[in-house]
Amino acid sequence: MATRHFLTLMDFSPAELQGLIQRAIELKKIQHSGQVFEPLKNKVLGMVFEKSSTRTRVAFETAMAQCGGHAIFLSPRDTQLGRGEPIKDSARVLSRMVDIFMIRTFEHEKIEEFAAYSQVPVINALTDLQHPCQLLADMQTYFEHRGDIKGKKVVWIGDGNNMCHSYIDAARQFDFQLAIAAPEGYLPDNGLLNAAGEHASLADSPAAACQDADLIVTDVWASMGQEEESNKRIKAFADYQVNSELMQLAKPDALFMHCLPAHRDEEVSEEVLEGPQSVVWDEAGNRLHSQKALLEFLLTRN
Ligand code: CP
Ligand code: NVA
Repeated sequence: MATRHFLTLMDFSPAELQGLIQRAIELKKIQHSGQVFEPLKNKVLGMVFEKSSTRTRVAFETAMAQCGGHAIFLSPRDTQLGRGEPIKDSARVLSRMVDIFMIRTFEHEKIEEFAAYSQVPVINALTDLQHPCQLLADMQTYFEHRGDIKGKKVVWIGDGNNMCHSYIDAARQFDFQLAIAAPEGYLPDNGLLNAAGEHASLADSPAAACQDADLIVTDVWASMGQEEESNKRIKAFADYQVNSELMQLAKPDALFMHCLPAHRDEEVSEEVLEGPQSVVWDEAGNRLHSQKALLEFLLTRN
């Protein structure tokens, strides 16, 4: 059987994704009950981080430790990858040793090449194009707070970036409507948008997008690797802050999510981030449980 990878949400069927969310909810209960559950005993996860991370690294390392396995953190600074050993060589070598791989990098093509040469499953832990692992946690969080997201209205405010792209894929796979409010010049990838058909659309303004929303989501205006564009972006996104005025246009029980780290009073006001509709801390915590469900699926269930 071909090796399964998780490079985007489109690599799994809607039924498999639903199964992962339900499993993540179960695994969270198992952990909170104090039960020791080690389905990944003796399994080893290799982790390559070419960009910084707090949540993703700790979620994957903790997931492997709690499930009885082990994780190896590989920084390009200390490996031959950082000295130019070709990706296709590294993939063939490393995948003969570890059981599963996780990569955070810049170009999406890099992870595609690694996966093409890997004998073991490869997980996308963020590229410039996609952040599918975060969407598992976001969907779990919505299901836990409000039930099924099918048919709901989700709003993306801000940059048409990696997170926005994964939300576009999620709209297709979880069958919700995504309205995107992004300034000219910062729109999401047209191919992904077109592929989503009626599941995703561009709105004229943040206010127009937020009408009757069930969930409002945003992310930083300058992603990792775009730091030198920060000042230009602060000006371009000045009208795209998620604040109380925008939240009031949504349904009264609408939720707010942000993958974090957040820049308070830039893309989101302090009041909304810390307010009663914000579920960002549950969302961050669910990275652990949803990553466990993903690892268990790729290592034991398919
Ligand atoms: N949301 C997220 O991926 O956070 P980290 O960059 O801290 O991993
Ligand atoms: N869009 C952000 C997400 C960080 C988790 C970035 O790529 O930096």
